[in-house]
Amino acid sequence: MVSIAPSILSADFAELARAIDTVAPETDLLHVDVMDGHFVPNLTIGPPVVAAIRRHCGVYLDCHLMMTNPGEYLEAFARAGADGCSVHVEIGGTDELVKAMRDLGLDVGLAVNPDTPLDAYEDYLDRVDLVLLMTVFPGFGGQQFMAEVLPKIARTSEEIRRRQLPVRLEVDGGIDVATAPRAAQAGAEVFVAGSAIFGADDPAAAAGAIRRAAGGDGPHHWARHG
Ligand code: DX5
Ligand code: ZN
Repeated sequence: MVSIAPSILSADFAELARAIDTVAPETDLLHVDVMDGHFVPNLTIGPPVVAAIRRHCGVYLDCHLMMTNPGEYLEAFARAGADGCSVHVEIGGTDELVKAMRDLGLDVGLAVNPDTPLDAYEDYLDRVDLVLLMTVFPGFGGQQFMAEVLPKIARTSEEIRRRQLPVRLEVDGGIDVATAPRAAQAGAEVFVAGSAIFGADDPAAAAGAIRRAAGGDGPHHWARHG
């Protein structure tokens, strides 16, 4: 099943509600990039914006926490209406963070940088709902897809299937109609795209084109579980 997650990082923040509405028909889940200016050299948005989006619509909110200290903010994201949060495995403390997300009723995601190997996260696969494999170094939209991550996507997908785990495999960075099929062939099923969607004249059509390129048929909006 192919899912499309538009990343609002590339939307016009002054017109955020309109941007979200424009792409809503093709949005299965909405990807929210949270950057702390420390784990990555950029600052974006936090719980108040998540809360504002939540008041605006009922879309599933997939929050990608590019933060050194996400544990201090998980409760704020849950209260703001996040459905799932992904923390980076590189910061350590993963056991505690996974437990904290579970206890808060969040879907549990683990995000992985392009140069972090499978053995750094394979032990967590039976405890998470989603693995977010970065296909660029996090921090900015509009970067080029790193094809060298494809073998890791394939190995992760094989491991999930071999162990028959209910884990979704998400890719993020440089996803467009050309790269989505390559990631899909390696086993990815959730596709984050920012600039390829919000940089297009018709964002919904662009999202639909990425979906079809990845082998998906129609939209299936993720249900909120809260
Ligand atoms: C990058 C973010 C991505 C970003 C993707 O640090 O995690 O979600 O929005 O943007 P594009 O699709 O433009 O690479
Ligand atoms: Zn992201």
